[in-house]
Order: sequence, then structure tokens, then C-alpha cells
Amino acid sequence: MNITVIYGTEHKGSTYNIAQLFLNKLRNENAEIREVFLPRDVPNYCRGCAQCFEKGEEHCPDYEKVNRIKKDIEKADLLIFTSPVYVYHTTGQMKTLLDHFGYQWIVHRPNKLMFNKMALIISTAAGGGMKSTIKDIADSLTFWGVARIFKYGKGVAAINWNGVSDKKKLSIYKDIDRISSKIIAIQGNVKPSFKVKAIFNVMRLVQKKGGFNKADHDYWKEHGWLHNKRPWQ
Ligand SMILES: Cc1cc2nc3c(=O)[nH]c(=O)nc-3n(C[C@H](O)[C@H](O)[C@H](O)COP(=O)(O)O)c2cc1C
Repeated sequence: MNITVIYGTEHKGSTYNIAQLFLNKLRNENAEIREVFLPRDVPNYCRGCAQCFEKGEEHCPDYEKVNRIKKDIEKADLLIFTSPVYVYHTTGQMKTLLDHFGYQWIVHRPNKLMFNKMALIISTAAGGGMKSTIKDIADSLTFWGVARIFKYGKGVAAINWNGVSDKKKLSIYKDIDRISSKIIAIQGNVKPSFKVKAIFNVMRLVQKKGGFNKADHDYWKEHGWLHNKRPWQ
């Protein structure tokens, strides 16, 4: 299984350590693991020029960096996104990365390779905010068309991995075993969820009427999605 991990912080704390434990369970001898650290790999905020939507993603001022990550994402069977909770939400740098991929939402120009991928979102907090943090990321992945999304949020009652109690670590190990087994069980046979297909079908009707701009409409037409073809075929 090829895995790309996108770390929502460069801090190697609880979230990073949990991601490593997942990798230990999920990697096999043929696995290719790719890692993206934020903000190191995409340091700039979206400038709001909207060139990606209107002209094409290659017109983004940050295209080179974003495209490198796009290629890493495309090569993965499983995408792992990690984020500690920062004031009840994902980190600013993770949000910045997701903003740069707005153009590939199903409402615009979805990447057909997403429709058979799995994702795992990992979040930790001292106490609370995992649900809203995971949702910040899951919203984008669903609208990218990612077929199956697994979620793992944990309140660790600590500010770093060393501060996490042995009792909590034990429950984390058990959770990792359980979720990893589910991921391994569906590997190679991942079909998009009902929700993803429903969003695609609604947007297909919008695109049939011309969509939001010419670049999007032309893209849907070229892929044959306005007729019989579907990205998951
Ligand atoms: C800027 C900042 C904001 C935070 N906001 C929250 C919060 O809203 N809720 C919470 O329970 N913990 C919050 N925390 C604590 C972290 O989410 C928690 O310690 C997390 O496990 C850190 O992950 P890491 O060790 O991977 O960096 C915050 C920490 C920082 C640095």
C-alpha cells in the first residue's frame, strides 16, 4: 500500500507519534511512504487571485509547490492527514494547504484518481475539539471525491507525547489496531461512498447547464462526465 502523509504541523508530538504507529501497522514491504510537512512544504497563504478556478491550477503563484504535493497525493492508495487541535480547529498551515486545492473540489475540476482512494484523518487535543478539527479536513476530502475516509480523534490530556499517560497510550494502541485492520480489509477494493457519488451527480447537473466557469465546464466535457463516463469507472 502506498501512503502519503500530510502533517499539519512540523512539531513531532502526539499527533506525529500516533501517525508513526499507524504507519508501522499499515506499511508492508512494498509500501512507498511519502511525507509532506506543513508549513515547510507549502509556506504561502492562498492569495485569492482565483486563477486556479478561472484559468487552471498551473496559474497559481504557488503552483510548483502545490503540484509536487498533488503528485504525492496521486501516487497514494491511502492519504493520512494529521492535525493537532488549535483553538478547536485544524492548524492554519493545514487550512492553507486545503485552500490551494479548492480547484479540485467536485464543484470545479475533481481529480478522478481520488475516487478510489482511502484517507485517514488523525487529530489530537489536550481535551476537546477533535470533531471540528477532523471535519475541517474531511470537508475537503469528501469534496475532492476521496472514496472512503477513516477518522481518529483522541484527547491526550497532554501538550506532548512524553506527557501522555501509559493508560492512554494503551487505549491508543488498541484503537490503531482496530482502525488499521479496517483499512487493510478494504485495500484494493475501495468504492466511493454514497455521499461522494451524490455530490458528483448533483454537480454533473450543474455542469450540464454550463457550470460556474468555462474551465470547469470544458474539463467535465473532456472527461466525458456529462455523458456516460464516471470518475470511478
Ligand atoms: C495554539 C494551540 C491551540 C490549542 N488549542 C486547543 C484546543 O482548542 N483544545 C484542546 O483541547 N487543546 C488545544 N491545544 C493543545 C493541543 O491540541 C494538544 O496538546 C495536542 O495533542 C498537541 O499535538 P502535538 O503534540 O502533535 O503537537 C492547543 C495547542 C496549541 C499550541
